Amino acid sequence: MSRLSPNDPNSYSRPEEVKVIAVHLKWNVDFSRKIISGFVTLTAEQLTDASQLILDTRDIKIHSVKDEETGQLLQHSMGDAHPNFGSALTIALSPSGRKQYKITIEYEVSASCTALQWLSPSQTAGKKHPYLFSQCQAIHCRSLLPCQDTPAAKITYTAEVTVDNDLVALMSALRDEEHPPLRSDKGVTYKFRQPVPIPAYLIAIAVGALESRKIGPRSHVWSEKDFVEKAAYEFAETEQMLATAESLCGEYVWGQYDLLILPPSFPYGGMENPCLTFVTPTLLAGDKSLADVVVHEITHSWTGNLVTNANWEHFWLNEGFTKFIERKIVGELQGITARSFSAIGGWNGLAECIQARGEKDPLTCLIPDLTGVDPDDAFSTVPYEKGHTFLWYLESLVGGPGEFEPFLRAYLDKFKFKSITSDTFKDFLLEYFADKKTVLEKVDWNLWWHTPGMPPHKPEFDETLAATCTDLRQRWVNWDPSKECSFVKNDLDDMSSNQISQWLAQLLECEPLSITKLEKMEELYGMSSRNNAEIKFRWLRLGLKSHWPDCVDEALKFITEQGRMKFVRPIYRDFYAWEEMRSRAIATFKANKDSMMHVAAYVVAKDLHLSE
Ligand code: BES
Ligand code: ZN
Repeated sequence: MSRLSPNDPNSYSRPEEVKVIAVHLKWNVDFSRKIISGFVTLTAEQLTDASQLILDTRDIKIHSVKDEETGQLLQHSMGDAHPNFGSALTIALSPSGRKQYKITIEYEVSASCTALQWLSPSQTAGKKHPYLFSQCQAIHCRSLLPCQDTPAAKITYTAEVTVDNDLVALMSALRDEEHPPLRSDKGVTYKFRQPVPIPAYLIAIAVGALESRKIGPRSHVWSEKDFVEKAAYEFAETEQMLATAESLCGEYVWGQYDLLILPPSFPYGGMENPCLTFVTPTLLAGDKSLADVVVHEITHSWTGNLVTNANWEHFWLNEGFTKFIERKIVGELQGITARSFSAIGGWNGLAECIQARGEKDPLTCLIPDLTGVDPDDAFSTVPYEKGHTFLWYLESLVGGPGEFEPFLRAYLDKFKFKSITSDTFKDFLLEYFADKKTVLEKVDWNLWWHTPGMPPHKPEFDETLAATCTDLRQRWVNWDPSKECSFVKNDLDDMSSNQISQWLAQLLECEPLSITKLEKMEELYGMSSRNNAEIKFRWLRLGLKSHWPDCVDEALKFITEQGRMKFVRPIYRDFYAWEEMRSRAIATFKANKDSMMHVAAYVVAKDLHLSE
């Protein structure tokens, strides 16, 4: 029985003994069998006298393992399969006293590879060509290739990917622009290189009838033809965002920053795949109002992709830092009040999450114990918002942005290309601010890091932009429908989309509204014809909470026509809580789950109590 690593409760690999430093992929993408097959060549360094290389795999079929140098086949064995963590592939290293190995594994993924989603032509916008995309974070890379699937290990990679002649392949890497893709009767081969060392979870691929448009000196948007123009408009401010991020964080080292707009079943808002951020099409609001997600993914170019959490228990080092810097950039671009406005929304979301999970739930700790826990099950807003709040608190303790921003830059510079734990951050902070020892002694690290529930301290947020939302919320809550109605059609006219979202989010925190009130909102504000996904999401939830039959069809449609978990999960949970509708929601899920990505179907099945 293979044991999980003492340094990463979600991985079998031991990079501290034998470290894979580079990967070359030679892939063939087969849409008829829905598999990727081919070769991975690993360059590994032996750091100790360990005589074996342990790799993570999940449902991978190994054909052969070969020592590139001697040409000999290497002995290998596959350990027992854990349902989520997969199996350890142990490869015997020949006792030659070499320090470096090059090992080629011929393999294929299974048709149920959890990192990949295969779409038939009918599931795409163009309806003519199939589509494939990956999502490896947190621990799905092991279902795509045998690898050290722990963020503690970083690799550079190169790839040659062969796809059908009418398709385009993209990866989280630089495209080889000097050599046009090679065409033959077997298909077309695209070449990629990622020269910056990255953790395995940042390997990504997408294949489809993709087109692009340049939107900046180092940026293109990519998508199916139908969305290119809309995306180019929506994300036109990408270069300004990059430049602002650079002014805070230092040089952007990845060369290219492209965006890929995925099909609607993409399960996240965005994914920071290097050189090529993946985003959900639900960001295409038509008014640039949801482009903050792009600021977030850009920020990961430093926090996460350069300075990386060493295992998923320290996920707040990725997401909390990213949220914190994202909001600083938003403050630069939209004005300082926008920073607090976004932070207030985050704080309220955190309160909702902790209330739902229970304030004693150990997974609400900033640094949770993930022994035996799949990161997909632990995922929540806690590392984002508790992490953000903690950094906000530290910033105010040391004297504000003038002190803290130079520290952040020094931190990023010191730990770039590395993977670290929370203690490394703490040690560096205390060392950097040695002259502020007395103020930093106030920090109760144990309370912030290892205690469940809400953060021990709430920052003083600027209420300028949130006040409009709060006032309008209170007026609706207080209104007695048997009395005169003071609301008018243009109540929302001076509010931004984000303010309307926050107003609805605040209403969701209150007692369910009467159907009379909802009908009045619909009549005055035309709520159900608003297409901004964040607004639509909260409006539908408000209806479900009030058991309003009128919103049911629309809500079921919303959770089947797109697969972003942030939207799909709460709506399924609302349906579950509404007993008369529970079976309809379950039937909808069962009918639809095969067109959802693995991770989304996995968590929704749990939310609906269909699996443990
Ligand atoms: N890296 C995350 C997405 C992720 C997290 C994928 C964990 C798999 C496992 C990404 O940067 C992210 O946080 N996306 C957010 C958007 C953001 C603005 C908070 C999302 O998807 O909603
Ligand atoms: Zn993120």
